Amino acid sequence: MAESVTIVDNRTGESIEIPITNGGVDAREWAKLLPGIWFYDPSFGTTAAATSAITELDGEAGILRYRGYPIEQLAERSTYLEVAYLLLHGELPTREQHETWVHDITYHTFIHENVRKRFMEGFHHDAHPMGILVSTVAALSTFYPDAKDIFDPSARYKQVIRLIAKMPTIAAGAYRHSVGMPFVYPDNSLDFCSNFLSMMWRVAEPHYDPDPVLSRALEVLFILHADHEQNCSTTAMRVVGSAHADPYTATAAATAALYGPRHGGANEAVIRMLTQIGTLDQVEPFIADVKAGKGRLQGFGHRVYKNYDPRARIIKETADQVFEVTGKNPLLDIALKLEEVALSDEYFTSRRLYPNVDFYSGLIYQAMGFPIEMFPVLFAIPRTAGWLAHWQELLDRDSRIVRPRQLYDGPPVRDYVPIDDRPGG
Ligand code: CMC
Repeated sequence: MAESVTIVDNRTGESIEIPITNGGVDAREWAKLLPGIWFYDPSFGTTAAATSAITELDGEAGILRYRGYPIEQLAERSTYLEVAYLLLHGELPTREQHETWVHDITYHTFIHENVRKRFMEGFHHDAHPMGILVSTVAALSTFYPDAKDIFDPSARYKQVIRLIAKMPTIAAGAYRHSVGMPFVYPDNSLDFCSNFLSMMWRVAEPHYDPDPVLSRALEVLFILHADHEQNCSTTAMRVVGSAHADPYTATAAATAALYGPRHGGANEAVIRMLTQIGTLDQVEPFIADVKAGKGRLQGFGHRVYKNYDPRARIIKETADQVFEVTGKNPLLDIALKLEEVALSDEYFTSRRLYPNVDFYSGLIYQAMGFPIEMFPVLFAIPRTAGWLAHWQELLDRDSRIVRPRQLYDGPPVRDYVPIDDRPGG
């Protein structure tokens, strides 16, 4: 076999040849020769934890495709709901399927009044909207007991629809609560993104019509964020889902993972960094500090992309369109200069650090009026489609419960010591 590896057990002289398939080897083959010998890979950097037909990502080539369709084409021509359908069903919908899908989601945008009154209004006035989102999504499982029927296709479909439809309602509700504004009910005459903008910004007007450029920009951002294969939050979804938890609980776990600044919180960190730099003349000293190990250049680098993040390129174009409407974000010039300086610096090029999706998304969100606490929430809304697609796939593929091994490096066996006999006791 040309495309294979041979592993030799030097203790016994036995060997096994394992084919390299899709760039990897099957650990089950390895285990046949070496049962009980574990791979040590704490951050899963060299472990494929699943087979998946949802998203294809080639970090070396800067390629991202959903179900085979290039992200560039989807961002230019599709909508978030159509992309959500594609991720979940594997194919683009026919006209009739599309109408049913959009109708079903549009008519599940309302949340139970008690979710709003008893849960959301119970949070402190300055609660972080991401904390509210995590808790409220988990609480939804108590309102839909049929969510536990994860192998019943109609119950499963209902939860998928409900989750995709209700995320913007909860997200906007969390924001309105944090600024002391009354909750705005969904307006089902609007499309998905326009409805979200209406729930965010409507004040006293009977009907809120967002600027179509801003609505489309949000659509593009939602498409770009809809899935990204086995990232941290999707892995959380799959781990919790593998225990056969209901999809609300699993989505709450994924949302919690996304909350972290190394993942969905990075766009917030970019804005804080740009604000801290403040003026163009501070860019070079800031880069010098990063190179000296004092902090990181937020929005740069990626575990998988070692070339330009293809989403960053699309976002940069979207930013120009948004700034035509909102006026330029004053932090843009600093971001552009930062990118220029970093991309011509050997420290960044030798480590293959390029702008990622978060480098420009925060600038757009900020120009559109979103407070920075809402940035990870804006990531969670569309990623729900990807999380659910992975959850469905793992159930359909009858995956085993996730249960990694560990290499124990604690103390050896020892006898219990009564408290009075312990040193200093
Ligand atoms: N600024 C400066 N140096 C960096 C950066 C950065 N942003 N990212 C990586 N490096 C350096 C790092 O110090 C290391 O250098 P050395 O080899 O000399 O020790 C080298 O590059 C490799 O870094 P790493 O930490 O091993 O890379 P990783 O794959 O573990 O981390 C990352 C990936 C995204 C967490 C990291 O690049 C980072 O912290 N970036 C800033 C935060 C960010 O923008 N996150 C958003 C990711 S994209 C959105 C998403 O999918 O959630």
